[in-house]
Amino acid sequence: MKITKNIIIAFYLLCLAFNASAQSINWEEIQNGIWKASVGVPEDISLLKMADIQPKKEALDNLPDATFPFSKDKISTEVIDGKTYLRFPLTREEQLYGLGLNFKTVHQRGRIMTLHVDHYGGKDDGRTHAPVPFYVSSRGYGVLIDAARYITVYAGTGVRVDTEDPPVLRDRNTDKKWDPSPYSDAVEILVPAKGTDIYIYGGSSPMEAVQRYNLYNGGGYIPPKWGLGFTQRVPTLYSQDDIIKEATEFVEHDFPLSFIGVEPGWHSMAYPCTFEWDEGRFPDPKKFNTELIAMGIRSNLWLNPFVSPVGSLYPKVKELSGSHTVWNGIVPDFTIKETRDIFKKHFVDNHLSIGVSGYKIDEVDGFDRWLWPDVATFPSGYSGEQMRQVYGLLVQEMTGKWFKELNQRTYGLVRASNAGASSLPYVIYNDYYSHRDFITALINSSFIGVLWTPEVRASKTAEEWVRRMQSVCFSPMAMLNAWADGTKPWSFPEVETAVRDVANLRMQLLPYIYSTFSQYHFEGLPPFRAMNLVDGFSFEQQESAGTLSSTDNPYAMAIKKEVKDQYMMGDNMLVAPMFEGETERKVILPAGKWYDFYDGKYVGSNEIITVSPGLEKIPLFVRDGGIIPMMPVQRQAPAKGEMVDLEVRHYGTKEGSFKLYDDDGTSFDFEKGDYSRVDIKVIKDKKGNLKGSVSKPEKGKPYGYNKQVSWKFMTK
Ligand code: GAL
Repeated sequence: MKITKNIIIAFYLLCLAFNASAQSINWEEIQNGIWKASVGVPEDISLLKMADIQPKKEALDNLPDATFPFSKDKISTEVIDGKTYLRFPLTREEQLYGLGLNFKTVHQRGRIMTLHVDHYGGKDDGRTHAPVPFYVSSRGYGVLIDAARYITVYAGTGVRVDTEDPPVLRDRNTDKKWDPSPYSDAVEILVPAKGTDIYIYGGSSPMEAVQRYNLYNGGGYIPPKWGLGFTQRVPTLYSQDDIIKEATEFVEHDFPLSFIGVEPGWHSMAYPCTFEWDEGRFPDPKKFNTELIAMGIRSNLWLNPFVSPVGSLYPKVKELSGSHTVWNGIVPDFTIKETRDIFKKHFVDNHLSIGVSGYKIDEVDGFDRWLWPDVATFPSGYSGEQMRQVYGLLVQEMTGKWFKELNQRTYGLVRASNAGASSLPYVIYNDYYSHRDFITALINSSFIGVLWTPEVRASKTAEEWVRRMQSVCFSPMAMLNAWADGTKPWSFPEVETAVRDVANLRMQLLPYIYSTFSQYHFEGLPPFRAMNLVDGFSFEQQESAGTLSSTDNPYAMAIKKEVKDQYMMGDNMLVAPMFEGETERKVILPAGKWYDFYDGKYVGSNEIITVSPGLEKIPLFVRDGGIIPMMPVQRQAPAKGEMVDLEVRHYGTKEGSFKLYDDDGTSFDFEKGDYSRVDIKVIKDKKGNLKGSVSKPEKGKPYGYNKQVSWKFMTK
């Protein structure tokens, strides 16, 4: 009896000790539907701080109210041994999305990842270009861990002994339902730091949680209009004359071109870089930029930030750089204001002031053996690990501000990013090259507030070429990156027309695409969207049970069914890319009726259809009542003040409306209210005929569309 009593007392004391290390946390609703809490002692460097986010308070207030997504006492937090342990509840039916720029998977429940900025290495294990520690639940909420650390996430894998909702116990010998991954009722997270800030974004749908996340980060970026035209990156050693000639060839081939990417050869040395024009290849950079601008073309300069000992910046930033070199260059500590000021002066004086319109910031992601090691130290005192997680954010934020101060929008490329990036003017790309995985990355970018381009570089066949070109024209940046292969859009003459057609179609769709980006900014709606973010979309196909095999599948793991090869561009258009070798593909249509973009014919509703579009077309579908504003084909995006004709297409039989957005296309004046938003409406008259109208733009606000509208009711 006495022994039992002693055991009970000991157990009680143990519980007390356990509770002492477990923290009770204080959740503060910092914005409508967004809660923040600090656990332990958060570090003074964080992802959102480095991205310098400026929450869009008004837009957040306009979202419906949201409630805290689960009972607060179901969250547990502890700091043990200098590390933070976090646990958030999960219900049985919930699916999770996000957790970084993944390339192969969309459903993240059941995965274990260590989120680490790196070049994507072919596995969704957390090492990727934007390892954003943010997950979105199918139940309509999001969780962000704002720590600049290699965070390990067990996304519904661990099962605690004391769980209130344990998985069913089964005998593998006799029970066919035995599951190698028993149900786990939590997302568990290990942050290798003494504390962290946590944010919870509420909502009534996964999209609403994503909207809150993007709006809190400042709202999505609206690229300048030229940024949405076609862009070609030239071979690395092209001279200024070669580039002007290349631009002329685009005219000869009647192919769109809005900006040109200049690869490493513009530096007098790369890599490491000098950030100074090479006198042999670029004897007159000012003339070069002036000539391009006269042709309506902007320039974008490649760089990686590792400073060459032979460059003029080297002595200036030597003491402001980390302990280790990268490709013999020093690594500037951009958390220090002085370093940023030195860079700013050099870049503004030598590039921005002569018309350079943007940058491609390479190699800030990895690979491990190239980048600084985690044992590196930096003059700011931040560690190699912290720097690794934020460097991509720092360079985006810093360069973005240079342009903003000149009231000039830029649009560039970057290879590393992280949480808080929604309002930064950059698109992520990489050296990996699976067309299918590129589309999955595009889909996943929509959960985590980043943009991604499935860039085209080279292809083995004309078929592959045209299929890749079609996809990239339905992405945030329509780009051919010919840095190594010297490819041109017309490299495969047999598909030149098909490639030109899709690039022209992109140009025609600019009014729709630009308005879609304005939704990103004002409402937090990502421009390119996973089907799982579409309201009412449900694709609950059972996972197919895996087949037992002692070598390939010893635990008979089920095969996941995910929608990872089709997506939405804006509210109305469903994009279903074709891949090389396919003559047909399946498309999952959400609820409601859907119509073929090209001929307006009805294709189906809430079902899986098979399409065989031929080589010259990328399958595109429009929802019932969907309105698509378009403009005539032109080689370049409309310049400031340019007026273009408006064609409005309507699909299906339902009434519909669309908000057409416009501004000057180049400056930030829209942030002060200098923009137009006109209502395009299609209603049925008494006889049931569809009639369209476009409201008048507000006087004095920029609006680049001629009054005369040509209407096309596509569904006969
Ligand atoms: C790579 C980059 C390529 C190209 C190349 C130039 O790292 O991903 O797109 O810019 O550098 O050296």
